Amino acid sequence: MPEAVSGSRPRRGDRWAARDYPTLLWLTAALVVVIAHRVVPQHGWVLVHLVLLGALTHAVLVWSLHFAQALLRSRPDLDPRAHQSARLWLVTAGAAVVVVGVPTRLWWLVVTGAVLLVAAVTWHAIALGRRWRAALPGRFRVTLRYYLAAAAWVPVGATLGVLLARRPGEEWVGRLVVAHSLSLLLGWIGLTVTGTLVTLWPTMLRTRIDDRAERLAEQALPVFLLAITVLVIAPLAGSRALSVTALVLYLAGLVWWGRALIVPVHQRPPGEVSTMSVSLALVWWVVVLVLAAAHIAHARTWTAVAHGYGTIAAVAAFGFGLQLMVGALSYLIPVVLGGGPSVVRAVQHRVERWGVARIVGLNLAVLTWLIPVPDPVRIALRTFGVVAVALFVPIMVSGFVARVRAMRRPHPGRSS
Ligand code: HEM
Repeated sequence: MPEAVSGSRPRRGDRWAARDYPTLLWLTAALVVVIAHRVVPQHGWVLVHLVLLGALTHAVLVWSLHFAQALLRSRPDLDPRAHQSARLWLVTAGAAVVVVGVPTRLWWLVVTGAVLLVAAVTWHAIALGRRWRAALPGRFRVTLRYYLAAAAWVPVGATLGVLLARRPGEEWVGRLVVAHSLSLLLGWIGLTVTGTLVTLWPTMLRTRIDDRAERLAEQALPVFLLAITVLVIAPLAGSRALSVTALVLYLAGLVWWGRALIVPVHQRPPGEVSTMSVSLALVWWVVVLVLAAAHIAHARTWTAVAHGYGTIAAVAAFGFGLQLMVGALSYLIPVVLGGGPSVVRAVQHRVERWGVARIVGLNLAVLTWLIPVPDPVRIALRTFGVVAVALFVPIMVSGFVARVRAMRRPHPGRSS
């Protein structure tokens, strides 16, 4: 079964601009903002959104379709590549327009960007639904249910983001920021991640799926959905107690779902950049949930909730989101590029380069948001973290080069 999520049947290995370039674009933009943060208005917000709304949202569109295709084996003409590319550019344009619109305070631009984003994600959900309806019965259909549920949170979260950009009073910023950020972080990103890791995690570890995985994922889905629904309604209704309860419920669902990840770890513990990054990302995810619950519980007002929320957002964006993306792509890119076992190994070898230093760099940088350290130490560690993440781009490029070289070497039985 794990083979199901590692294979990309159509047109393995070729370049695809709408799939490949936006990731580079978002990561480069994030790097530029880090370097030029003094001249970028609301640079903290911009950075968080370059990662979560730009890079991760694009990755969700690309990879949920990839896994849907691998699991359902649907006909390519159900959703031609031209449509997929149009959606990917639409989501990239929407995110870019929002990222410009919020700090420049051009509300009409924010509305336009949100409309483009919602249109792209709705189209994506319709395409997933068509594949699902056309597919024969099989295992792990639950993953598709997670993807469809994830997409449903985008119109909700985007509307709340648009209202936030309207700059309501401080009390409402607190309420809206919780509902907006958690509906998108736990709904859009979180449900896609949980739905995918059920099968991707054992595949990455090259081990067997826990027999309970599908059942646990099915049982956890309603818990997640209930928790996220309450996390939208409770802050809007002004109930901090209910918001905290919903976060605890989500955490309980995550622990229940996460039981299926333990058996593969016992069989083969994480030891590569990809698996170590994903493990640490999941740890940070739990930390984010605990931090958010503690922060909301301790704040006396919603205005106080809004203050200090940026720390949680930074940990979520870099510790969880970015780290998860780097980990998953470190595994997926060599496998999806394909070319036969020897070529995949050659690319993986490159992708592993300076792995431990890169992981340490990113995680130390994330810690600086949580542990008070003198200014020079904080600046040094964050710079180290930025370099560690930025290295991902040239390392991936060197992976492509390694692939080309390995492909040129004659090898019997190689596929391309
Ligand atoms: C239509 C798309 C979006 C719009 C218009 C939008 C807008 C906003 C606005 C206006 C804020 C409040 C800034 C402030 O504190 O004054 C905010 C905060 C936040 N948003 Fe978004 N956002 C969008 C998409 C996303 C996505 C997709 C995610 C995550 C997956 C996300 C996560 C967050 C987080 C974590 C915060 C808190 C950040 C902080 O306080 O620094 N947003 N967003």
